[in-house]
Amino acid sequence: MSKPVKQIHLAAHFPGVNNTTVWSDPAAGSQIDFSSFVHLARTAERAKFDFLFLAEGLRLREQNGLIYDLDVVGRPDTFTVLAALAAVTERLGLAGTINSTFNEPYEVARQFASLDHLSAGRAAWNVVTSWDAFTGENFRRGGFLAQEDRYERARQFLAATWELFDSWHGDEIVADKETGVFLRAPRPGRFDHHVREFDISGHFNVPRSPQGRPVIFQAGDSEAGREFAASAADAIFTRHGTLEAGRAFYADVKGRLARYGRSHDDLKILPGVTFVLGDTEAEAHEKAALIRRQQVSGQTAIRLLEQLWNRDLSALDPDGPLPEVDPLVGEHTVARGRASVRMHRDPLAVAAEWRALAEAKNLSVRELIIEVTGRQSFIGTPLQVAEALNEFVQTDASDGFILAPHLTPGGLDEFADTVVPLLQERGVFRTEYEGETLRDHLGLGAPRPVRGRAAAGAAS
Ligand SMILES: Cc1cc2nc3c(=O)[nH]c(=O)nc-3n(C[C@H](O)[C@H](O)[C@H](O)COP(=O)(O)O)c2cc1C
Repeated sequence: MSKPVKQIHLAAHFPGVNNTTVWSDPAAGSQIDFSSFVHLARTAERAKFDFLFLAEGLRLREQNGLIYDLDVVGRPDTFTVLAALAAVTERLGLAGTINSTFNEPYEVARQFASLDHLSAGRAAWNVVTSWDAFTGENFRRGGFLAQEDRYERARQFLAATWELFDSWHGDEIVADKETGVFLRAPRPGRFDHHVREFDISGHFNVPRSPQGRPVIFQAGDSEAGREFAASAADAIFTRHGTLEAGRAFYADVKGRLARYGRSHDDLKILPGVTFVLGDTEAEAHEKAALIRRQQVSGQTAIRLLEQLWNRDLSALDPDGPLPEVDPLVGEHTVARGRASVRMHRDPLAVAAEWRALAEAKNLSVRELIIEVTGRQSFIGTPLQVAEALNEFVQTDASDGFILAPHLTPGGLDEFADTVVPLLQERGVFRTEYEGETLRDHLGLGAPRPVRGRAAAGAAS
């Protein structure tokens, strides 16, 4: 029996604060004007996408002690933007990244339950733990959690919000004007949650929302992050955007689900990917090379190199060779507030690789950085890109994609007009929304009851 054809899930990542966003292109607009959010959301909805996705950054990044203004600096608050978008869209899911380290469950549960009401069941929460004390300095408690404790808090945080979401069952409000009875139950929303991180009790003040709970996303990649996702998330936003890495990641996390009594389809894997389209393959590759040069100016190349070298290299010529000195190993002092800094776990080994590559291909600093950082995932004609996306999903490298265009706000327009119809022709992407809620779009059932379930650390 042949394998059934999978339906692809598609989402639009708002190209806000990012060093792959090209703000200097004549066609680029504001990352903060509401009209930019409306444009991307309406394009995504016109193309029948599952949802729009907002990342979160709680502190302006710095490099060499200065605000890092080479990517787009500053972004508006997630809930404010998503609530406003709920009013100008009808079916598109609205996903926001909100961290579990610097917030409180009661407040976050209220915000997501409210968004779910205002949007009639379209809210999703990307639960991130955030990584550094530098960001923590913005908050009352500062950077008070070591890395290994952040997922423990995230588990306890999520379990607490689930108790709050589930504290209303949906039938408490009668509002019978004849009899004057408003509430059926005398004490709705009762919660009592006592764990190490949270000692809270009371009555939740937002009645049950259309989805019961928002759709839960997870985005970390560590062992603890994968386990957290397998236990509690409905979808993962991952960096594994190549076929081989995607398949390995997919098999790994789907393989963890059974331990939590969950099935293969309960967790969707959605890598963040980029794309470049052209009328011919050659034209698409030319455009891709041009975009890479826009993304990595000489100045940006030096800044990205400094992030590995952990040294001030501002005097270096980007069109010349790599520095003769090696990276400084130890505490990272040059770039602050940036996840990629954490990703260079062995800077000397990476620097040796980069040196070898630069020598073999005779590359300048800028050319090398263009080669080793953030390349585009899908390049080609609309037909080639549609086929590649479909192959990716049908061969279990993912269940769909979170597409990150390089231009705000029009970067998705061409994809919506050319690639989406080809996926629809192949019967692998919806031509109309079939359900009302984001859970419907993602093919997720109603949230499972928490009680009696070990997931999310409810008992810890
Ligand atoms: C694809 C991806 C996107 C992420 N987006 C955000 C984000 O927007 N905001 C944030 O604070 N953390 C973000 N993170 C960070 C993680 O969610 C997590 O908080 C951090 O990486 C630590 O998790 P880990 O050790 O499991 O990787 C992202 C991580 C990944 C892999």
